[in-house]
Amino acid sequence: MSTDAIVLLRDDHKAIRKLFREFGKTGSEAAKGRVVDKIIEALTVHTYLENECMYPEVRKLVPELEEDILQSFEEHHVADLLAAELATMKPEDEHFTAKATVLIENVDHHIDEEENEWFPTVRERLGRKQLQELGARMQELRKKAPTSPAQPSALKKAVDAVLA
Ligand SMILES: [Fe+2]
Ligand SMILES: [Fe+2]
Repeated sequence: MSTDAIVLLRDDHKAIRKLFREFGKTGSEAAKGRVVDKIIEALTVHTYLENECMYPEVRKLVPELEEDILQSFEEHHVADLLAAELATMKPEDEHFTAKATVLIENVDHHIDEEENEWFPTVRERLGRKQLQELGARMQELRKKAPTSPAQPSALKKAVDAVLA
């Protein structure tokens, strides 16, 4: 099986976009909630692999992509915040579908930029062997990747409870 980093990330993107389409076709609130749970899990794992492995490596090895990487980190951050909020909401909340839709639109645009604007340069510059090694490292990381977003508000509540 290929462990080419770009192939692996593109496979993730495909699975994530499949969930996005599923969300678009889903009618009931309960079903929407289940799809959003899957979206949040898939995004949390994928973002972790990119943040911990792909992005820092690309930043180091392909300095001309520095700006793209920094922007992509910020896009991850926005998606993380939305995902963390969604994870605490119920599907019947009037903001739930709107927030999920904004998350989906943001990530969809982000994936387009990765695949079209800078992955091709990474492939050109890194070559097959380096991409295979990078991918193998990502597959190792996947085993210990978090599956749900960090909850700053939950953490704060716990700290407040201790201090009260
Ligand atoms: Fe990304
Ligand atoms: Fe990605």
